[in-house]
Amino acid sequence: MSNNPVLVANPGAHTAAYRPEIDAAIKRVLDSGWYILGKEVEGFEKEFASYIGTQHCVGVANGTDAIAIILQAAGIGLGDEVITTSHSAVATTAAIEQVGATPVFADIDPETFTLDPVSVESRISSKTKALAPVHIYGHPVDIPAFQKIALEKDLFLLEDCAQAHGAKFKGNSIGRFGHAASYSFYPTKNLGAIGDGGGITTDVDTFAEEMKALRQYGWKERYVSSIGGVNSRLDELQAAILRVKLKGLHKDIARRQEIAARYNEALENQESILAPKVKADYEHAYHLYVVLAEDRQKLEQHLKAESINSTYHYPLAIHQQSAYAQRIRGGDDLPVTEHVYKNVLSLPMYPELTEKEIARVCKALESF
Ligand SMILES: Cc1ncc(COP(=O)(O)O)c(C=O)c1O
Repeated sequence: MSNNPVLVANPGAHTAAYRPEIDAAIKRVLDSGWYILGKEVEGFEKEFASYIGTQHCVGVANGTDAIAIILQAAGIGLGDEVITTSHSAVATTAAIEQVGATPVFADIDPETFTLDPVSVESRISSKTKALAPVHIYGHPVDIPAFQKIALEKDLFLLEDCAQAHGAKFKGNSIGRFGHAASYSFYPTKNLGAIGDGGGITTDVDTFAEEMKALRQYGWKERYVSSIGGVNSRLDELQAAILRVKLKGLHKDIARRQEIAARYNEALENQESILAPKVKADYEHAYHLYVVLAEDRQKLEQHLKAESINSTYHYPLAIHQQSAYAQRIRGGDDLPVTEHVYKNVLSLPMYPELTEKEIARVCKALESF
């Protein structure tokens, strides 16, 4: 009998794990008769802010809008440069362009694949207004280095936490070290909705108020736009479902970390496959478990033969994609990014992986 494939991510299994509470949450919203910006969004915002350790959370429609709304509220737009990474989902870059600002790429750290602060400093110009580092795969960026650059150069620091809910620096959640932080609640994320969703955290009261207005046509008073805004609301159903899953997030991340430890052990004697590194003082949230393989295709095929799926995050760096090629400053000088993207391979990683599936992955890694 052939084995069922081991999936890289499995949002269906995650929903199943919370199904009775999700059903109850959906019923509560349906029965309430109130579907947009009501008690569920308010409740989720309070609970998520408390989970991260910030004063405020603002629920929005997705993680890309979260970035755009933060930048807009910070007054960043046409003519302003925002330094970010090419080794990521395109969303951060797309959001910077969405507000009319100009993305600039800096290179990454060869061990954590997060933005390299030294490279970032080398890209700062008179037009630079903000830094948008991404806690890629769930490993935080070098927090003190970014705080120092932002302070010394008077730059706005936006943490893109789309892949890193629950990651920590010195025991504190990331998402509270910059001026504001963005989150995606896309279904496969560590905290995922049953559709699109996004959030913003900040400690600045006036900034949170501004973003709450921006997400709804710039209304501070109903039907009266005091500033130009957008429609980017987190809806009541998604908020109710996120409240359920937020209660289990701590346990889910611990499970991801447990699975990562098992994979790390299986890779101990493999010289051609490097397990993800975790720097001292940091806690990895393992949204993705990404190895660096000398021969990625061979490893991929080896896993495939054992019915184990794997994938690339990402098949191309952003500056290599036709929408962005040859037009982003810094894109012509990213040697680490260009080395890394060809060797990364994402292995199955989600809290509901069974013991049998984990053992199959470990065995395949050991026998490579
Ligand atoms: C690093 C990063 N930033 C931003 C986003 C955007 O999130 P969303 O898909 O919710 O717009 C994603 C999601 O893929 C992401 O991985």
